[in-house]
Amino acid sequence: MRTRFCEVFGVEHPVAQGGMQWVGRAELVAAVAEAGALGFLTALTQPTPEDLAKEIARCREMTDKPFGVNLTILPSIDPPPYAEYRDVIVESGVPVVETAGSNPVEHLPVFRAAGVKVLHKCTSVRHAVKAQELGVDGVSIDGFECAGHPGEDDIPGLVLIPAAAEKITVPMLASGGFGDARGLVAALALGADGINMGTRFVATAEAPVHDNVKQALVQATERDTDLIFRPLRNTARVASNSVSREVIEILATGGAFEDVRDLVAGARGRRVYEEGDPELGIWSAGLVQGLIHDVPTVAELVERIVTGAEELVRDRLGGLVRS
Ligand SMILES: Cc1cc2nc3c(=O)[nH]c(=O)nc-3n(C[C@H](O)[C@H](O)[C@H](O)COP(=O)(O)O)c2cc1C
Repeated sequence: MRTRFCEVFGVEHPVAQGGMQWVGRAELVAAVAEAGALGFLTALTQPTPEDLAKEIARCREMTDKPFGVNLTILPSIDPPPYAEYRDVIVESGVPVVETAGSNPVEHLPVFRAAGVKVLHKCTSVRHAVKAQELGVDGVSIDGFECAGHPGEDDIPGLVLIPAAAEKITVPMLASGGFGDARGLVAALALGADGINMGTRFVATAEAPVHDNVKQALVQATERDTDLIFRPLRNTARVASNSVSREVIEILATGGAFEDVRDLVAGARGRRVYEEGDPELGIWSAGLVQGLIHDVPTVAELVERIVTGAEELVRDRLGGLVRS
């Protein structure tokens, strides 16, 4: 099952693994590349641009296949040196970057001049159209189901993806809520050229996180996520736990970001992945966890999705058509 996404981004399967803070490291990204899908190292998981250069080199030792880097540009009082991370991406010769978080306009000329393909991830049709006008090579669109930041419009993929498909002419990935063959077939039917997944890739053998986190995803249902930061209009979908519920309570009763700053600290979330206690902090998870029932290798997962999608189209959907 090849689509124009495969042609433009030089991968075998129409499947991508989006950037994931603390999770998008060489072990996972190399496994995704080896499986013929497009994986992204997460730039800001590396403490400095120099560390990102080392992580890219480490990933190259594990695979000869192409992989990319995610650059998440979020508004911040004390921003990381985005331009330096960008320059490392360019200088290391990585063929593709996933930009996310805000408009990538400032960085696009540098990527284009270096021949780095840009897949911009956003959460609305208008932002996808804007990115297309700016000249990105492809877009990923995250529906309301997604882990991390779904935006403030609350439009699930079933409407968001076909609405975007009416306006987007560059290759487009559907993202948010995808985890199996049914999702890939649905995404293609809705007008996308493939799928981007986050949560499903956390529950794989190679994901460099504690096994308890993977088992927590297997145990969780589609009802076990929370939306935090809604009153701040910076919504994030995270695994529901005592910390997420406390954050919601504080903000709902008039609290400000300052009042939850310690609870949501990235360092606490990182400890969840390293120490395996899901209650230690905030960690991202999407609704699709309700469809996750095991912890396969990345190769098994990708194979299962693409082969299953082919079977689904041929045997189930094809069989419904009268000749
Ligand atoms: C643990 C985790 C961390 C994430 N961190 C980031 C990030 O740093 N930057 C980003 O652009 N997206 C991030 N995401 C979002 C994913 O790249 C992807 O868009 C999203 O997970 C898709 O929805 P799904 O989880 O339903 O597959 C993260 C997702 C997860 C599960």
